[in-house]
Amino acid sequence: MNEKELVGVRAAEYIKDRMVVGLGTGSTAYYTIKKLGELVRNGLNIKGIPTSEQTAALAVEHGIKLVDFKDVERIDVAIDGADEFDADLNLIKGGGGALLREKIIANAASAFIVIADSSKGVNKLGDFPLPVEIVTFGAEMTSRKIAELGCEPKLRLSGTQPFITDNGNYILDCDFKQIESLEELEKQLNMIPGVVENGLFVNMARRLITIENGELVEITR
Ligand code: A5P
Repeated sequence: MNEKELVGVRAAEYIKDRMVVGLGTGSTAYYTIKKLGELVRNGLNIKGIPTSEQTAALAVEHGIKLVDFKDVERIDVAIDGADEFDADLNLIKGGGGALLREKIIANAASAFIVIADSSKGVNKLGDFPLPVEIVTFGAEMTSRKIAELGCEPKLRLSGTQPFITDNGNYILDCDFKQIESLEELEKQLNMIPGVVENGLFVNMARRLITIENGELVEITR
């Protein structure tokens, strides 16, 4: 098993019968979904809430029943990947463009479990360009306002066209290098009209499953 598979499969152990499960997006969450599909075939009864259209399709392919967000009162556990994590389990997410739904679901979940291979650990978040989801109206102006916070936002493309999120928005990838104050930046970004959400997940994860020196480790906070 590669690192992504090891952490993804381990996370599935936290899912018990009758749980409502937030299903993450990306190449690591893929392995959790695949494993949950196997468990469902063996009788596990869960309902999934996907963080993206891509994950919805994957979950259905693996036989996991989905439930509409409006029909649930709680999410028991959300499991998702990350682009970077620090020692306090703060994250940068959104490399796959699904950060808005990922953040809504992580925030709604009683427990948010992050699964990440060893390459994702950093001392300070920011090397990975921070994804910021913005509405298409006035995008150039919104981008200039974000640049004033100390980065050069780059409109994410899909081929030659702007990448469009599941919510019909653009993504700006914002290279802040080293982010000194995570909470402050998170707030400043979200106060700019036109910004829908940003990929900083501060103080949200309670458990991280990763690999250290070739071994599976779990870090809680
Ligand atoms: C999707 O928008 C992201 O937040 C992913 O969770 C993140 O990019 C991790 O993806 P991988 O598991 O593919 O590295």
